[in-house]
Amino acid sequence: MNTPARISIAEAARHAGRSVEIRGWLYNLRRSGKIAFPIVRDGTGLMQCVAVKSALPEEAFEAIRNLTQESSVIVTGRIRAEERAVGGYEMEVEGLEVVQRIPESQPYPITPKEHGVEFLMDHRHLWLRSQRQHAIMRVRHEVIRAVRDYFDSHGFTLIDTPIFTPAACEGTTTLFEVDYFEDEKAYLTQSGQLYNEATAMAFGKVYCFGPTFRAEKSKTRRHLTEFWMVEPEMAYADLEEVKRVAEEMIVYVVGRVLENRRPELQKLERDISKLECVRAPFPRMSYDEAVKILQEAGSEIQWGGDFGGGDETVLSQRFESPLMVDRYPAAVKAFYMQPDPGRPEVALGVDVLAPEGYGEIIGGGQRVHDLDLLLDRIREHNLPPEAFDWYIDLRRYGTVPHGGFGMGIERCVAWICGLEHVRETIAFPRMLYRLRP
Ligand code: 4AD
Ligand code: MG
Repeated sequence: MNTPARISIAEAARHAGRSVEIRGWLYNLRRSGKIAFPIVRDGTGLMQCVAVKSALPEEAFEAIRNLTQESSVIVTGRIRAEERAVGGYEMEVEGLEVVQRIPESQPYPITPKEHGVEFLMDHRHLWLRSQRQHAIMRVRHEVIRAVRDYFDSHGFTLIDTPIFTPAACEGTTTLFEVDYFEDEKAYLTQSGQLYNEATAMAFGKVYCFGPTFRAEKSKTRRHLTEFWMVEPEMAYADLEEVKRVAEEMIVYVVGRVLENRRPELQKLERDISKLECVRAPFPRMSYDEAVKILQEAGSEIQWGGDFGGGDETVLSQRFESPLMVDRYPAAVKAFYMQPDPGRPEVALGVDVLAPEGYGEIIGGGQRVHDLDLLLDRIREHNLPPEAFDWYIDLRRYGTVPHGGFGMGIERCVAWICGLEHVRETIAFPRMLYRLRP
């Protein structure tokens, strides 16, 4: 007899009728005296196995009967179609090797019963084995692939920007200081944007995609201290072009998840019809209009203030597609934002608010390109000009209007998956009160 082919559970359909080998872990076990139904997972899916006492050597059947949750096993057997089994196939067990049996004295900590979130977060290294976490991580993977495919196929060059930086990008209050470089303080980057502005002048259209860091002390369902951000930047682009690209990218990403990750969304009990409603053109409004709507809805907000999470929810819940709010007061935005030439008290910036109360997923806009104006802004924000010398240079040598945006991957995934909190959208979240595991 040939040795059975080693397959992953995801490819079981192609091997129906043949004997194969699956390497995985015990997910669940039902048994009676003469028959046992171990369900094995291998990271690609679940396989219901059927072990019949009379068809197996006695020891093999006993080993199966005594398996414990998450014990590692290699099973061989014949695949056959079975409508009632998870995935539509099951395996008639012909042999089993126990790689490690977890003893009853030290059982796998996560059982099918309900556990509190803090317990699960403390066991994140194991929790990632659960079906729900699989679904989320696979949607995340698809979002990241779609984002890359979008930019790669629209003329953007990927440029990786540094993590250690000598200066703040998004404001000094949320910087992580690193003590290493002689004579100079360094910080973990909040955004690759400033470097992207340099590379956009070199390549025209670029994007960076990497981890970014924020030291804010906020403990909300939308904040991580370490998160992944994709940031396109375009030379000769104005605010309208930035909005157009952001809209097109979001529509593409949502479409790809709907195309390739429907079972995962179903597993998460996501209301898929909400995602199917996402289409261009997105609703657009100015900050002024948004403030008026909020005041009419009873919010305390005054012109000049930044929106709170509650305000964003009120605004975005009125629409099925993400909402684009532009022209915020310059005073609440970063130093690099280009003022509106007709109305310098507002900046040519845009935030994209996801529907269903998921809040801001994108921030971006047009950058200051004039040398003197940039110098003024750096001074007004009390930033050290020497840390920005190279950035200022960009306004000396062939400066042009330009812009871009940043999208936080975790917030985007939380919205698409319909999750209450961003902590489940990344394998090992870093938050104000969480550094482990
Ligand atoms: O609005 P932000 O701060 O904008 C920037 O960093 C710009 N430099 C981007 C650019 O124009 N190139 O952040 C952009 C996005 C937010 O809309 C949000 O999705 C995400 O990054 N984000 C966070 N996600 C999780 N936790 C945090 N603490 C986040 N802070 C921002
Ligand atoms: Mg923002």
